[in-house]
Amino acid sequence: QVGRILFLPGDGIGAEVMTEVRRVIGWLARRGIEFAVEEDLVGGAAYDVHGVPLTDATMAKANEIGTVMFGAVGGPKYDDLPFALKPERGLLRLRKEMDLFANLRPAIVFPALAGASSLKPELVEGLDVMILRELTGGVYFGEPRGITELADGQKRAVDTQVYTTSEIERVARVGFELARKRRNKVHSVEKANVMHTGVLWRQTVQALRDRDYPDVELEHMYADNCAMQLVRRPKQFDVIVTDNLFGDLLSDCAAMLTGSLGMLPSASLGAADANGRRKAMYEPVHGSAPDIAGQGIANPIACLMSFAMLLRYSFDLGAEADRLEKAISNVLDQGYRTADIAQDGCTRVSTSGMGDAILKE
Ligand code: NAI
Ligand code: MG
Repeated sequence: QVGRILFLPGDGIGAEVMTEVRRVIGWLARRGIEFAVEEDLVGGAAYDVHGVPLTDATMAKANEIGTVMFGAVGGPKYDDLPFALKPERGLLRLRKEMDLFANLRPAIVFPALAGASSLKPELVEGLDVMILRELTGGVYFGEPRGITELADGQKRAVDTQVYTTSEIERVARVGFELARKRRNKVHSVEKANVMHTGVLWRQTVQALRDRDYPDVELEHMYADNCAMQLVRRPKQFDVIVTDNLFGDLLSDCAAMLTGSLGMLPSASLGAADANGRRKAMYEPVHGSAPDIAGQGIANPIACLMSFAMLLRYSFDLGAEADRLEKAISNVLDQGYRTADIAQDGCTRVSTSGMGDAILKE
């Protein structure tokens, strides 16, 4: 047995696409690669049973098992709940209490889908960029923050961008490690020209590289230029390391290069323990898609690609991850498409039909 995984399928299509991951886990088990899978409730599904989007017991289990495969949460049924009980709070609590500070969002363009990009096919064909976003610091959390009334009746809003050396270093380290297993190039992205956090970011990343990763190529780039370069010549990038705010924007930007929300995986990693093991959560970028939930037509590829990341980053099963990704790529070459990525002349398949084709391949 290679390890334990906590399954949190959640709501809507979250549960539907996670079923296909279960089938791949079954396929691996029959070939001697066995995971112990436990399953629990999160989001609306947890609220329905327990009255909260994530129970303390589930939170403790996630921390104990350390590796979470997450589907999606939310739905119209829960839209009017008070803030603290909203399904998304379950997800945010997991990220926070597992201290998942490194958010990996790959933007990969499969050859068969290059035509679905918002850019010209030749600009994106074969694209494989990893955006690494710092997830627990920066302006979304920095103090002071808030809105105050001024004496003259105006209001004043404050958010604070804060980073410490150690916060920058730990995420940059993940970036250099990733690059070593890829094309050995890191772009560190900030605005050192106008922000002090940018200056510290640049100095810290450069010092870490010079000290521990002299073999990795490092380039610094301003965030605005990076946004431009991503739509101008995206294939110049291998790994992009950036802060919470810039990473939020740049990862959405890179996502559109790939075409469909149903294709985008993600991973969030925490600090390595003494044995080099990191707490981690893997999830598709998309939500619970209430508009198509229950119809069996959701695209399971984002979730399966997230599982491939789990194999690679949590269990060092890189060959198995490559194999799964290759099967997905081949199935797309053969013309199999769920509704969201359908093209003329393709073979339209359901969620499980896509799972069948990938397992067969
Ligand atoms: P969404 O990602 O659920 O759906 C946006 C659009 O993309 C919909 O038309 C949907 O049908 C389509 N889509 C998404 N994933 C797909 C897939 N795998 N296959 C085929 N089509 C797919 O975002 P939306 O509609 O803004 O939010 C719906 C619910 O999901 C809300 O309650 C929202 O809060 C929640 N949500 C949860 C997230 C999470 O759990 N990480 C992330 C984003 C939204
Ligand atoms: Mg965003």
